[in-house]
Amino acid sequence: MFITAIDLGSAYIKGIIAEQRKDGSLVLVKTIKRESKGIKKGEIVYPEETVKGLFEVLSIIKQFDKKCLRNIVFGISGTRVQFHLSRAAISIPRPDFEILSEDVDRVIQESMAIQIPAGWQIIHSFPREFVIDGIEVEGTDVVGLSGKKLEANVVLISAFSSVYRNFRRVTDLVLGKKGDFLGSVIFTPLASERATLTKSQKELGAVLLDIGYGTTGVAVFQDGRLLVAKVLPIGSGHITNDLAVGLRCTILTAELIKIEYGNANARDVSVRDKLDMSQYEPELSSQTSLKFVAEIIEARVREVFGLVQDELKSLGVFGKLPAGVVLVGGGAKLKGLADIAREELKSPVKIGFPNTDEFEKAHSGLAETDDPSYAAVCGLVLQRSDQTNKKYVARSFAHTPLDVNESWFKRIIRILRANE
Ligand SMILES: Nc1ncnc2c1ncn2[C@@H]1O[C@H](COP(=O)(O)OP(=O)(O)OP(=O)(O)O)[C@@H](O)[C@H]1O
Ligand SMILES: [Mg+2]
Repeated sequence: MFITAIDLGSAYIKGIIAEQRKDGSLVLVKTIKRESKGIKKGEIVYPEETVKGLFEVLSIIKQFDKKCLRNIVFGISGTRVQFHLSRAAISIPRPDFEILSEDVDRVIQESMAIQIPAGWQIIHSFPREFVIDGIEVEGTDVVGLSGKKLEANVVLISAFSSVYRNFRRVTDLVLGKKGDFLGSVIFTPLASERATLTKSQKELGAVLLDIGYGTTGVAVFQDGRLLVAKVLPIGSGHITNDLAVGLRCTILTAELIKIEYGNANARDVSVRDKLDMSQYEPELSSQTSLKFVAEIIEARVREVFGLVQDELKSLGVFGKLPAGVVLVGGGAKLKGLADIAREELKSPVKIGFPNTDEFEKAHSGLAETDDPSYAAVCGLVLQRSDQTNKKYVARSFAHTPLDVNESWFKRIIRILRANE
């Protein structure tokens, strides 16, 4: 069986096709990366634009093997996707008190009866931990165990209606209107952490930061429990914009300078190091100092970590997470970033890579996934594979195969028209 994951990022659409063997192991068979359009700060704001980019990605997937279109998982992101924790309890009605899959469904359903603001809707739910007759159970596979009372702490992810609508306008293209939307979408920070953080890091306490182009995804763990997952509306693209203003150059030039010469730790850069701007744009005749470039970058980087600091303080875990901070996302590749994170977050910091022990690679060309920016898309595959390997699969996770006979073009036109 194939698992296809699509991360709709603010800068790039990244796709991965993995083959899941019968024993549950995963073989990475293809990666796809295209510039994304119509996505701002993680949210799809112009679905028609996003669909065009996605269409290209889907065509490649289809060419590779049509079967890959049957099991697709998407990442959803943005500040208007939120995390909630809910608790519910049910009695087990059978005389032998054996817990069945339907009981797990029922307790999760009960947990969804929480007050969420008008205009928001729950798009994803999964149990964080179960308690049977007052005793916390290791793991989340409780089907087959027995007890009189089943309690669940459940993570609920909700999205604002317009975010949900735009996301569906794009994903319905692949899943079909009757497709299993709920089972095919995962909040992106949860995918990034799945691919990067180890069980022991989560037990000790750790923060995952996915610094993308327009967002920073945050996931915080303590004692093995997810405390929060959220998306901050600031990313590495903001550094590029600041550089373009500060250096009076185009965004493209600023991006090239950031990647080639950028350093978030301005103390490490000498004032004597100069950059000839005319090599990028002939009309820019002046030289600029690399220290000036680094100072612009550092100011924005400190702002990002300042927001993370506020978040950790509000959770009461600032400076108290021994496994520290793991940085992923394309933005994590910026030189000097870990130094500033260490200062601002008063924690050990390291750059994270998707945990490739969980994937075999079909060929050496797939080494590009050994990169912090692939954390989210690799995590989507792993999350999907976890769902498949579990004894308990919530009904909403049952997947409806796509009608692959319908012409792709017709399908796009029909969906775009239906939403006009
Ligand atoms: N070597 C590098 N040094 C510094 N920055 C880099 C480097 N490589 C990529 N980036 C930055 O990473 C960002 C893109 O990261 P990523 O691919 O994770 O974004 P995305 O997932 O599309 O966006 P988002 O998650 O915010 O929706 C760009 O802003 C780019 O400048
Ligand atoms: Mg991203």
